[in-house]
Amino acid sequence: MAVRRILLIVGGGIAAYKSCELVRLIRKGGGEVTCVVTEGGQHFVTPMTLAALSEKPVYTTLWDLKNEAEMGHIQLSREADLVVVCPATADLMAKMAAGIADDLATTLLLATDKPVMAVPAMNVRMWEHPATRRNVARLRDDGVTVLEPDEGPMACGEYGAGRLPEPEAIWQAIRAFGSPDPLAGQPDFAGENHRPLHGRHVLVTAGPTHEPIDPVRYIANRSSGKQGFAIAEAAAAAGAQVTLIAGPVHLDTPPGVDRYDVESAAEMLDAVESALPAEVAIMVAAVADWRAAECANRKIKKDGSGEVPPLALAVNPDILSSVAASPARPRLLIGFAAETDDVVAHAQAKRLRKGADWIVANDVSGPPGTSVMGGDSNTVHLVTADGVEDWPAMPKDKVAAALIERVAENCRAHNGMKDDA
Ligand code: CTP
Repeated sequence: MAVRRILLIVGGGIAAYKSCELVRLIRKGGGEVTCVVTEGGQHFVTPMTLAALSEKPVYTTLWDLKNEAEMGHIQLSREADLVVVCPATADLMAKMAAGIADDLATTLLLATDKPVMAVPAMNVRMWEHPATRRNVARLRDDGVTVLEPDEGPMACGEYGAGRLPEPEAIWQAIRAFGSPDPLAGQPDFAGENHRPLHGRHVLVTAGPTHEPIDPVRYIANRSSGKQGFAIAEAAAAAGAQVTLIAGPVHLDTPPGVDRYDVESAAEMLDAVESALPAEVAIMVAAVADWRAAECANRKIKKDGSGEVPPLALAVNPDILSSVAASPARPRLLIGFAAETDDVVAHAQAKRLRKGADWIVANDVSGPPGTSVMGGDSNTVHLVTADGVEDWPAMPKDKVAAALIERVAENCRAHNGMKDDA
């Protein structure tokens, strides 16, 4: 990760309890957290809880001379790689914007020379109030990364924007902080560009399909689902509403993603059709091309003759082609192509044949079990109507980040065209 030492300032809002989970996630991800809790924050979460979770002293007051002797507040504000304010209440952001330093948290924020990220949480009216809009704009102008709050039902009973994003999404934004080059790492969530897919529905298919032969046997392939899950995760971290249709895999659902599990190609097609419309669809699944023409109701038994039973195959529906031809075709339709030879030429032909806008082609050559299928890294070529880009070999999460960055650029360009029209 680009940032390892986090100074976490916990403000006084009901969402403060989620900062406990954030501390846990940062530590699980290999980071260190030092917590500062405002007076208001202590009404919602105790310093004891944060000390236990962070395994470090928690700081609460400017006037604690013992701590001042051990560690001055200037030093505290500078020993971090990133200062995260979570939750950032309307009051705390107003003070930050105005440069007020009347307690430990605000003094640290004024004294720090490190980047600051604020994660707002408040009532929707407070979030939409011109004073808060002004303060957020001022903070962004000053270089503070202010994340967008989530929309949804609020603790106060109202509905709208102002909910603290889920701790996993905040952790992703922290992890991505400071890595603006998509090929080098994560999408750029800093400043104005954070959550570039906010408000867009992205559909992702992932994993293999299992095509039953009888109640105990099936036809399958070596897809692990890792690349598709990484793409769903990167899209959600970029703010998209993500629907993930997953074949049988052993992977946890990425944070903020709506997941539907299916077994066969026919079930995957049904699930995809029900999930449409979507602005972007990324079909990463390694859908089985064939299924058993008939699925036996009972286990097929050996008959003692030594003869193999006949296994007739039928062609499965091509989900990518059928989505391309559907009236609900996503504006940007992306397929994957697993090839063992003539990778780019096959991918170019596949793009036209299947009606996709882009094809991400990967070389899956190599003896069974050693290839990209199931592995952690991937060498891909992005095939579009404009040509072919060869990307260097990268871990699958970096491929995902780079692809989502390209999707975000495409969405921005499309919006620009609409605005010009
Ligand atoms: N795909 C699909 N439905 C299928 C087969 C493939 O939607 N029945 C999609 C995959 O999700 C992927 C793309 O089509 O986005 C290409 O998959 P690939 O397996 O490489 O292509 P095939 O159609 O199997 O082509 P071939 O076997 O000729 O290489």
